[in-house]
Amino acid sequence: MGMIYLLDTANLEQIKKAFEFYPMSGVTTNPTIISKENRNFLDILKEIREVIGEDKMLHVQALGATAEEIVKEAEYLSQAIGGNLYIKIPVIPEGIKAMMILKQKGMKITATAIFTAQQALMAAVAGADFVAPYVNRIDNISGSGVDVVAQIVQLFENYALDAKVLAASFKNVQQVQEVALAGGHSVTVNAEIMDALLTHPLTDWSVNQFITDWEKVYGAKKLTYDVK
Ligand code: G3P
Repeated sequence: MGMIYLLDTANLEQIKKAFEFYPMSGVTTNPTIISKENRNFLDILKEIREVIGEDKMLHVQALGATAEEIVKEAEYLSQAIGGNLYIKIPVIPEGIKAMMILKQKGMKITATAIFTAQQALMAAVAGADFVAPYVNRIDNISGSGVDVVAQIVQLFENYALDAKVLAASFKNVQQVQEVALAGGHSVTVNAEIMDALLTHPLTDWSVNQFITDWEKVYGAKKLTYDVK
């Protein structure tokens, strides 16, 4: 299956661009990300769904403080947005309770705000399909986000759990690289990091050099010049 790439944004222009140029599997949002757009949140989510289509994953976070509220929000979002929807739920006790209830109802769940492997393990046992450790936020407080990802991958293997790691909160390409090497199944990154994953000055230099060398001999003729 390969790395599963998701875009961590609610910005439509960024989503359109990434989905045009990169092999994206979906979009993740959270309340902070949605609030940055500063307009009706349901409009934003419906427009994202329209742009990415019904089949791509859209991860939307619940805000409720109790399991009851979270379940209500999940059912509301499922009705209002539809398609391949994942409800993101923080790993607090009420969140774990909500995961168990929503799993019974057949909904797809992404456990979020994860900082330890044990939080991820419990969420997966409760029924989460994805677990989202915050790599850079762990690194920022003298932990190792990559180590936490590696531990989660190992635990899921130990217990033959189907849940996948959806590593989140990245500030650079090296963190993504190390998460990939550690066996992380998927990453969600912002538009800037998505671009940076592909960028290298020597790639651009090489491409320009190919064109310069070609034009020296063939001028404006294209590879397809004899195609009628
Ligand atoms: O999906 C969670 C992620 O958006 C957190 O990222 O950059 O705010 O630590 P960040």
